[in-house]
Amino acid sequence: TVTRREEYRAPDWMVPEITLDFDLGAEATRVRATLTVERNGPHDRPLRLDGEGLAPERVLIDGEASDAWRMDGGTLEIALAGERHEIGTEVVIAPERNTQLMGLYASGGILCTQCEAEGFRRITFFPDRPDVLSRYRVTMTADKARYPVLLANGDPVASGDAEDGRHWAKWHDPFPKPSYLFALVAGDLAANRDTFTTRSGRTVDLAIWVRERDLPRTDHALRALKTAMTWDEQTYGREYDLDVFNIVAVDDFNFGAMENKGLNIFNSRYILADPDTATDHDYDGIAGVVAHEYFHNWSGNRVTCRDWFQLSLKEGFTVFRDQSFSADQGSHAVKRIEDVRTLRAAQFPEDAGPLAHPVRPDSYQEISNFYTATIYNKGAELIRMMATILGEEKFRRATDLYFDRFDGTAATCEDFVTCMEEAGEVDLIPFRRWYSQAGTPRVTATVRHEPGSARALVKLSQRVPPTPGQPAKQPMVLPLRLKLFGAETGQELAPEELVLLSDEHAEIAFEGVTERPVLSINRGFSAPVIVETNRTAADLAFLSAHDDDPFARYEAMQQLMLDTLVAGVTHGRADHADVVEAVRHTLADETLDPAFIAEAVLLPSESFVGDQMEVVDPDTIHRARETLRRDLGRMLEGEWRRAYERSRANRFEYSPAAKGARRLKSVALGYIDASGAPDAASLAFVQFEHADNMTDRQGALTTLAGGTSKEWVAALDIFYNRYSDNALVLDKWFSTQALSSRDDAAEQVEELARHRDFTLANPNRARALIGAFSVNQRAFHHPSGRGYRFLADQLIALDKLNPQTAAKLLPPLGRWRRFDQKRARMMREQLQRILATPGLSKDMFEQASKSLE
Ligand code: ARG
Ligand code: ZN
Repeated sequence: TVTRREEYRAPDWMVPEITLDFDLGAEATRVRATLTVERNGPHDRPLRLDGEGLAPERVLIDGEASDAWRMDGGTLEIALAGERHEIGTEVVIAPERNTQLMGLYASGGILCTQCEAEGFRRITFFPDRPDVLSRYRVTMTADKARYPVLLANGDPVASGDAEDGRHWAKWHDPFPKPSYLFALVAGDLAANRDTFTTRSGRTVDLAIWVRERDLPRTDHALRALKTAMTWDEQTYGREYDLDVFNIVAVDDFNFGAMENKGLNIFNSRYILADPDTATDHDYDGIAGVVAHEYFHNWSGNRVTCRDWFQLSLKEGFTVFRDQSFSADQGSHAVKRIEDVRTLRAAQFPEDAGPLAHPVRPDSYQEISNFYTATIYNKGAELIRMMATILGEEKFRRATDLYFDRFDGTAATCEDFVTCMEEAGEVDLIPFRRWYSQAGTPRVTATVRHEPGSARALVKLSQRVPPTPGQPAKQPMVLPLRLKLFGAETGQELAPEELVLLSDEHAEIAFEGVTERPVLSINRGFSAPVIVETNRTAADLAFLSAHDDDPFARYEAMQQLMLDTLVAGVTHGRADHADVVEAVRHTLADETLDPAFIAEAVLLPSESFVGDQMEVVDPDTIHRARETLRRDLGRMLEGEWRRAYERSRANRFEYSPAAKGARRLKSVALGYIDASGAPDAASLAFVQFEHADNMTDRQGALTTLAGGTSKEWVAALDIFYNRYSDNALVLDKWFSTQALSSRDDAAEQVEELARHRDFTLANPNRARALIGAFSVNQRAFHHPSGRGYRFLADQLIALDKLNPQTAAKLLPPLGRWRRFDQKRARMMREQLQRILATPGLSKDMFEQASKSLE
C-alpha cells in the first residue's frame, strides 16, 4: 500500500493527554495506556488507533470495560459518541524477542525504545502520526537489581521502592510531543554528569548514561554537548527548555541516534571515544551527532513535522545546523570538503538511480526507506542555498520567525520557505522546485574572451535529468558564486559574484578583461550540482594553486585528477604530469593547512570515477587509479617522506591542528606505499605498533590492507587480540578488511561472514562487513557475480531479523543500469531472488521492486 502526500487529512481525533504505565520485564512488559481523546471538528468517524503486533487484553471507555471496539488489521477501532472521552488499553509485549529494534527492545540487558518513525504503535495503541501532539505522564516499574536506572522523557517527578525487589519512577514531559519522540530506558547504567546554565539562567542537569565500564569514554561526548548548547544560543538564539537532559548509549541501534525529548538515545558508536579506540573521524562524528540530536530540540521537537513527507523540514535543517556547528569548531574549508564528499558519495548516486526521490517525496510504501541522503544531505543543501540567497542576517531573522511562529506545532516545508520569503524579502516561488524535483542538475559553464573589446562572456546552461516518475523538469534556481582570474597575472579580474541562474540559459558579461580569464565557479559548492566547463588541465592546475576560495582550489585539483583518471580508463593510458605537478605544488605550499593539503592530494574514489562513466568498468578504473597513485608515489617520494616526517610523533591531542597532521601523515604513508618502496610495509607496521591513538593505528592498518605482506597478517592478528572485547573496534577490524583493495577481498569477506564474531543481530556489525563491502567497488563487482550473491544472501537473512537495516543495505544492487550487460543481468537476478523470498518485509519489497523497474 502506498501513502501519498496529496492525501493528507487532519487527524479525526486529537490526544491532548496520555498516561502510560509500564510494568517492565525483558520477557514480558505490560503496558497500560490512558488517552484523553478529543474529536477534531465535526465528523462521525470512529477513533482509530494504530497497533503493530499488539493484542488488546482490555479496552476501557471512560473508565468502564467495554466491547464497543473491533480490530481492523492491526488497527483498534472504537466507536465513540461524545466529543471527549478517556480510552484505556492494556497490552503485553516482549522486548527480548524484538529483533527489529523498533518499539521497546533489549540491548545488552538494557531496555530501550526507538519510535521514529512508526515504532510507538509496537508499544501501545495510538494515532501514531506526527501531527498528534500529547502531554505524556509515564510510570515505570521494574526489578531494581536488573534495572536500577529508570528514565523517560521530560522531568523526573517521583520514585520509590515497590514489593518483591521492584522499584518505580514517574516522569512528566510538559511539552506536547508526537509519539515518535517518546522514549524510556531501564537498565544498569552509570552516568557521567555535568550541569549547563542557559543564557536565561536555567540550570540543566546533564547526564550521559552508559555501562559502568564505558564511563571513561564519555568525556568527549559530554564536552561536545555543552559546546553545542552554547553554540545554539549564540547562533540561533535557541535555549534548552527542561531541567534535565539525558543521553543513553546502547550497542544495538538501527541508525546513529534519536532526538527523543529530554532523553536522546544513541548508538554507542556516536558516544564512546578515547584515543586508544576511536579515530579522529569517530571523534568528529560524535561531536556532530551529539550536536545534531541536541539541535533537534528546536528543529524537530518544539517545531515538528506535520506528516512524514515533511521529514526534511527537521532533518535537512538540522543537518545544516550540525554542519555549521562542526565547521565552527575547526576549519570551514575542510568541513565543507568533507560534506561535499559525503554528498557525492551517497546522494548523487541516489539521485541518479532507481530510488531517486525529491527532498519532499510524493509517496512512499515504507517511510523508513526515506531516511536517505536526499532527505538529510540534499535537504541540508537546500537550507544552505536559502541561507546564501538571504545572507546571514536575514537568514537569522527568518529562522527566528520560523521558530516563533510554529513553536508547539507540526509544520511543513512550505511553512519554512514562507518564513524565508517573509523575513528575507525574497521570492522563492521557483526555488521551491528544489523540494519537488528529484535529480542532480547539470550546469555547463563556458568562458569566451573577446580581447578586442576586453570582454569576457560566461555562458551558463542547466539541465535537470529525468528521474523515476518525473520525465521532464523545469529549470532550478541555482545560486552560483563565481569569479574570474587572469591566466597571466594570477590576479582576480572582478570581485566574486553571486549569480542566480533560474533559466535554462544565461549569459554574464564582464568588462575590462584584458587578459585570458580563468573561471572559478560554484565556489564553496554554493549549489549541489554537477558543473561541466571548458577549462583545460592548465586552467585547473592554475586554480588549484591560486584560487582564493579553498573549496574551489580543492575542486580544481579533484577535477584535474578526475579528468586524468577518466582519460586513463577510456584510452588505457593518460599523461600524469599535470596532476603530479599540481600535487607537488600543493605539498610545497607552506601557507596551507595540512588538513586541507591532505584532502586536496587525495585521489577521487573508484566509485566516484565510476559515477562519471556511461558504463562502469570496475577493474579498469582500479588499474587506472592505482597507476596514477603509483606515479604520484614515485615522482614525489621525497615530498611524501618529508610530509610524513613533519607530521610524525607529537603526543595525542584532539585539536584541529593535531588532527590535520595525523590526516596528512596517513595520506603520505599511503603514497609511500603506492610508490612500491620496499620499506613501506615495515614503516606502516612501525606506525601501527607505536601509535598512541587509533587514528594512526587504523591508518597504518588501512595501508597494509592493500597488500599481502606478512606485516598485514601480523597487524590484523595483533589488532584482533588487542580489541577482541571492544565491539566498536572489532567493527573496524571487519570493515578494514571489507574495504581492502586486495584481489581476493570478495573471498575474504565471505569468510569473515562465517567468523565467530560476525552477527547480523547487531546493526553496526552487519554494516561494518556488508555495508563496507558493497562500497568497495572492485570487490563488490567481482566479475564472477559472487559479490552480488553474497549481498543478497545476507540481506535475505537479515530481513527476517531486522527489515529496516536490511533494506538500507540494498541500494548498491540497484545500480545495475550503469554496468555491463553481464553484471547487470547478475545484479537483476539477485534482486529477483530477493523479491521471490517468501515473507519478505515491505521495507525490502519497496527497495527491491523499485530497483528493478
Ligand atoms: N531522527 C533521527 C535523527 O536523524 C533518526 C531516526 C531514523 N529513523 C528511521 N526510521 N530511520 O537524528
Ligand atoms: Zn536528525
